[in-house]
Amino acid sequence: MKAVRIRAFGDPEGLAVVALPTSVPAGNEVVIAVEAVGVSGADALIRRGALAAYGFTEGFIPGNEVAGTVTAVGDGVDASWEGRRVWAFTGTGGGYATQVCVPIEQVLPLPSALSPVDAVTVGGSGAVAHFALRHARFTPGEAVLVRGAAGGIGVMAVQLAARAGASAVAVTTSSAERGDRLRRLGATHVLDRCGNGDADAPAGYDVILDIVAGDGLSAFLDRLNPNGRLVAVGAVGGPPPADLGSKLMARFQRSLSFATFSAATVPAADLQAVRRDQLDAAARGELTAVVHDVLGLEQARLAHQKLDAGEVFGRLVLTP
Ligand SMILES: NC(=O)c1ccc[n+]([C@@H]2O[C@H](COP(=O)([O-])OP(=O)(O)OC[C@H]3O[C@@H](n4cnc5c(N)ncnc54)[C@H](OP(=O)(O)O)[C@@H]3O)[C@@H](O)[C@H]2O)c1
Repeated sequence: MKAVRIRAFGDPEGLAVVALPTSVPAGNEVVIAVEAVGVSGADALIRRGALAAYGFTEGFIPGNEVAGTVTAVGDGVDASWEGRRVWAFTGTGGGYATQVCVPIEQVLPLPSALSPVDAVTVGGSGAVAHFALRHARFTPGEAVLVRGAAGGIGVMAVQLAARAGASAVAVTTSSAERGDRLRRLGATHVLDRCGNGDADAPAGYDVILDIVAGDGLSAFLDRLNPNGRLVAVGAVGGPPPADLGSKLMARFQRSLSFATFSAATVPAADLQAVRRDQLDAAARGELTAVVHDVLGLEQARLAHQKLDAGEVFGRLVLTP
């Protein structure tokens, strides 16, 4: 089988297609012939070595979200899974490959009306967005701002907040064209990366989902309503400023909350239940799969070049 490894941390040239032995499932696992794998912003961070402290070392094969067909089952897995079309979250990478082994608990049936390409743009990032909104204690009627809305998580967060009855769904993005696309997904106000550019946008938000972090994060504390909650979901813009805590304390009388959110803290069964619902909703056309482009496995470097260039709206997908 073929896979794409991070041979050396750094630019996309460090990604290499390698030949590996055919996958053999361990107990409780299935082998999936991968037809589609999502390429995420997190993959680029891992490739650059930015997540080495979290155990992502050179030699890692990226790709957590896959869809395809089960070709073999390990001990303890019902044989009826063989031949079924599935979506799966590996949780440990390995998806940039023609085959991947996944524990059966992380596998879901692929709705027949949903293509593998569409499925890998919805199931993983949609659940992150869902539980991040829940972590932010979002309730219908509240105003939401999604900072960094043009990525895989953001396009799902916008749709979910709009569907759940947010009074406003503002987004930050870097171009008017992206803003128009986000409006079609449910955004009501389009702001530039600094949070400006729409005179009609709400003065404050009850919830900010922040996928960017970086030096610009502190300024968004002033966009929170009293009792507002800012939840950090990602850090594509780099680490937050060191004085974020003191900036928060300086706004003491507004009862603001800052929290981080990681899907790793959500019970696996809860994640799977939401993923299943969202894949079904996408199959019914109630959620939009936002596919930026579809490339072959050998084009993984090109995919990462596009990520690095900031070209990607929604998800890039590789089709091994
Ligand atoms: N919390 C969790 O459980 C969880 C799970 C998976 C991933 N993650 C994290 O989520 C992030 C990846 O999410 P993603 O794939 O949705 O993001 P992404 O596509 O990499 O980026 C989202 C958007 O942020 C904007 N952006 C990029 N760099 C920026 C900068 N320097 N300043 C301001 N805006 C910038 C870009 O939009 P514009 O150009 O339009 O502004 C980009 O489209 C990673 O940090 C990853 O670790 C978290």
